[in-house]
Amino acid sequence: MSQPTIESILQEKRLFPPPTEFAQKAHIKSIEEYKQLYEKAKADPEAFWAELAETELDWFQKWDKVLDWQPPFVKWFVNGKINISYNCLDRHLTTWRRNKAALIWEGEPGDSRTLTYAQLHREVCQMANVFKQLGVKKGDRVGIYMPMIPEAAIAMLACARIGAPHTVVFGGFSAEALKDRLVDAEAKLVVTADGGWRKDAIVPLKEQVDKALVAGAPTVENVLVVKRTAQQIHMEPGRDHWWHDVQKGASGECPAEPMDSEDMLFILYTSGTTGKPKGVVHTTGGYNLYTHVTNKWAFDLQDTDVYWCTADVGWITGHSYIVYGPLSNGATSLMYEGAPRASNPGCLWDVVEKYGVTIFYTAPTAIRALMKMGEHHPNSRNLSSLRLLGTVGEPINPEAWIWYNRVIGGDRCPIVDTWWQTETGGFMITPLPGATSTKPGSATLPFPGIIADIVNQEGESVDGNNGGYLVIKHPWPGMMRTVYGDDDRFRRTYWEYLRPKSGEYIYFAGDGAHKDDDGYFWVMGRVDDVINVAGHRLGTMEVESALVSHPAVAEAAVVGKPDEVKGEDIVAFVTLEGDREPNEDLEKELKQHVVQEIGAIARPGDIRFTEDLPKTRSGKIMRRLLRSLAAGQEIAGDTSTLQDRSVLDKLRGGA
Ligand code: WTA
Repeated sequence: MSQPTIESILQEKRLFPPPTEFAQKAHIKSIEEYKQLYEKAKADPEAFWAELAETELDWFQKWDKVLDWQPPFVKWFVNGKINISYNCLDRHLTTWRRNKAALIWEGEPGDSRTLTYAQLHREVCQMANVFKQLGVKKGDRVGIYMPMIPEAAIAMLACARIGAPHTVVFGGFSAEALKDRLVDAEAKLVVTADGGWRKDAIVPLKEQVDKALVAGAPTVENVLVVKRTAQQIHMEPGRDHWWHDVQKGASGECPAEPMDSEDMLFILYTSGTTGKPKGVVHTTGGYNLYTHVTNKWAFDLQDTDVYWCTADVGWITGHSYIVYGPLSNGATSLMYEGAPRASNPGCLWDVVEKYGVTIFYTAPTAIRALMKMGEHHPNSRNLSSLRLLGTVGEPINPEAWIWYNRVIGGDRCPIVDTWWQTETGGFMITPLPGATSTKPGSATLPFPGIIADIVNQEGESVDGNNGGYLVIKHPWPGMMRTVYGDDDRFRRTYWEYLRPKSGEYIYFAGDGAHKDDDGYFWVMGRVDDVINVAGHRLGTMEVESALVSHPAVAEAAVVGKPDEVKGEDIVAFVTLEGDREPNEDLEKELKQHVVQEIGAIARPGDIRFTEDLPKTRSGKIMRRLLRSLAAGQEIAGDTSTLQDRSVLDKLRGGA
């Protein structure tokens, strides 16, 4: 049978309705049911969320007030007392789920471990006791810099258990980037491992921690080290402790601390439009509820599922949808340390087959890379256990969507394209797989309780067809509360960039989108100076700061350029200090310098040396022109504000 072409699918504007059998068994079974929920939530959001908070979560003490909205600052479930680690663990122990697999873990070399809810609870309690012995108190921050091993989740839950906010730093970040985050969060303890496996090589995490601490993170008193890769490492007496040593004597009982609903649960750093990453603050009750409900409905989590999110715990997706959302639901969450690599390009499909994975959630970048590797890898494995697929991180191109649907989903699995952000805590615009008909490339409709809109620069609603800024108009429980230590930046970045005449506060996400005649949202990408490389958010200013910190660089401007696999790639335009000559070695050195300052995810794909950068008369770099140049396009639009027009000719010639 011949496959329909992408053109024919798109031209027919084909809808992919939920398969009948899927819908019948789903939590939300029809578009009518979705609409009812949506309207109910819109009419009375507080009643909607309060009812769910009551039925879905366990509270030590009920709240006095559902919502306290002092724009842009919000409180949910005021004076409610709750602990997310209790909701993820303890409450399942009195049910049949006690001996259900909570975490299934597969290491890159092929080792594996399964932790039941009872086992996970025990290890979390042990570590919570260890943290306390190391002097960590409620409110103290803990840095977590780990590979994808169960101990990463255990450390997070142990923090939550005693009320010590964690800040997880992605293991791909450099020592320098780690240090900045530990300093900003004033972390008292760092939890790490000797190393992690990544594409058949060891990522020397502990070595990076040592460098970060030498570079200066004076608040760090202790370092806890999991033995994972077993190479020789330095252990600083008095400061560094092996996880397995301190675990030995620790009690497996540690009551969960009753936390205020608004106590900080974690800080997660994310890139913005300045050189300094923002510490996004999430609190306890609202985040617990929001990740729980979104995970349950958008992924239709059932007790029989083996649910696998391929994200790293260092990103928000790992926080919300590997650890907190699934465990709060009593689901089985799979964690995988590895990635497709030359020695095993089909490893993901081996894992699906080995554990009978039913729900698979990944990023468009990964899908495009897998497409390139060829269909024979998935085709030679049994993927028939899969019943639902998901994507996140960037707009998915219809070609990738169709491939995912056909080759991985066997034309039978709905695809949920979930649009959300570190700041939103959980899914905002997403299909509900038993209810929403999907369209390749659209994240479809807002989650119940989310009032999404498209506005112009004045913050006024516009006809979505023409596109505009994507905004959210009513607070929701999972939203960030502030930027750590910088309320003002929080206000400016998210709430004051777009201000309608009404004076109303609306949340601006940083993305552009349009809406079609069915009310479906199509997210087009960032409209600020943030680029999305392989699903990772990077601020152009961050990369520029890294480049200019090299002695040879006088000035740098960084833009994104379309890339077939990564979505976007980094192109850096660099002017050198007077005495330096551009050459290949210097290009390599500068790329390596960025890796050292930020991490491999920020390595520029291309460095273009230039004598000058195009600037306006007031000295602002005209990125629009650089973006066109980087993409190899003709420069369109107004160039009259350019200070020196000859710069463009030089760039065209020299680039
Ligand atoms: C982009 C990741 C289109 C978007 C959860 C957003 C998406 C940024 C989608 C947040 C999607 C995420 N379709 N774009 N389904 N999901 N994005 O904070 O630009 O790492 O603003 O959170 O990723 O990235 P973050």
